[in-house]
Amino acid sequence: MSRPTLRTELCDRIGIEYPIISAGMGPVAGTGEPVATAELAAAVSNAGGLGMIGGVSYSPDQLRAEIHKVRSLTDRPFGVDLLLAPSFLIPIGKKERAAAAKMKPPSLPSGHIETMQKIAEELDIEWHSAPPDTTEMGSWVPEGKSWAGSQIEVLLEEEVPVFASGLGSPEPFAKTLKAHGVTILALVGNVRAAEQVRSGGADYVVAQGTEAGGHTGRIGTLALLPQVMEAVDPTPVIAAGGVSSGRALAGILATGAVAGWCGSVFLVADEANQPELQKERILSAAAEDTVVTRLYSGKTMRNIRNPLIEAWERHGLDALPMGQQAELIKDISHSIRVAGREELLMNAAGQTAGMLKQRRPAGQIVAEMAQEAAEILAHDLGTRIQAST
Ligand SMILES: Cc1cc2nc3c(=O)[nH]c(=O)nc-3n(C[C@H](O)[C@H](O)[C@H](O)COP(=O)(O)O)c2cc1C
Repeated sequence: MSRPTLRTELCDRIGIEYPIISAGMGPVAGTGEPVATAELAAAVSNAGGLGMIGGVSYSPDQLRAEIHKVRSLTDRPFGVDLLLAPSFLIPIGKKERAAAAKMKPPSLPSGHIETMQKIAEELDIEWHSAPPDTTEMGSWVPEGKSWAGSQIEVLLEEEVPVFASGLGSPEPFAKTLKAHGVTILALVGNVRAAEQVRSGGADYVVAQGTEAGGHTGRIGTLALLPQVMEAVDPTPVIAAGGVSSGRALAGILATGAVAGWCGSVFLVADEANQPELQKERILSAAAEDTVVTRLYSGKTMRNIRNPLIEAWERHGLDALPMGQQAELIKDISHSIRVAGREELLMNAAGQTAGMLKQRRPAGQIVAEMAQEAAEILAHDLGTRIQAST
């Protein structure tokens, strides 16, 4: 079968065949490692898309090793996704480290802890306190540097062609990245953030609708896309949230988007670094089976529904700020693991989970999406759809 043609200006600029980007998905519960490692990124790039590494949790050394691994698996372009949250931009010096070492963990409100214990009882889970952390998250950040800054240095040294900011404006690094020829993408969930990242130097704005898996906003993809396009014109826009099929890809390209940034569809790819149970739960989910909750991180995150989320929502507590909510959830997550009830752990996925029914190699996913989108755009226009101006 001949390869379909499906190109946009993004393909020409980055040097890829199809306007399909695999999202830079970070760690999920139980692995500590990203879903989007070198294997997934390379498989997508080899198939003609743009593969992204979900780099947020990697130390500079780990990130460098992962980049080398992608290069050993493909000679095509790829990218790295990082988070530029304000706390990831603060340089950490000796003084700050000493102060942090002395600081007690934030004391959690007793009402929240009691509610968690009650929920455990309701779910028939024996309560166990989590063992103290031996490794501090981000303890690898080099003296005097920031979390994100030390990762960006690796991107520059390794001449990574594409960088995506999953959260926050690229502004602090945009000038240097551009001077090194790096193409900058930035994810947003509303128009205000789109304007911010555009003026912060993003070459492409990725508009992510609420359908998306993982952290997500409140506006649907089709409602968000034209508003973001208008706000950032002439900066090109990439669509995220719900793009898991050739049909959806054709749809967003028809709106004027230059590519699809796709997460959920690759969650069940053979190369996705996801626990088997989590892949199974996505494959058996219906479209209604995802729900947005602050339970796991303190921020709104779309997950496969489970009884723990339902109990948390029923109790009606306000989530704590991001770091504290993560602290709050540690004991119950540990208790869940001890009880062997892993189906209650975080299992981020988007609304398209309802249409993901089979495991496939990532390369096949890219090929099938490109084929279906090209068929729709090439044949339906002029036959099923008549249009002229
Ligand atoms: C398990 C999971 C982890 C994610 N981690 C990240 C991340 O680390 N950085 C990021 O920019 N986006 C992350 N996302 C969001 C994706 O980049 C993407 O925007 C989203 O999956 C697109 O919507 P879709 O799931 O409907 O395809 C994650 C999504 C999922 C499902």
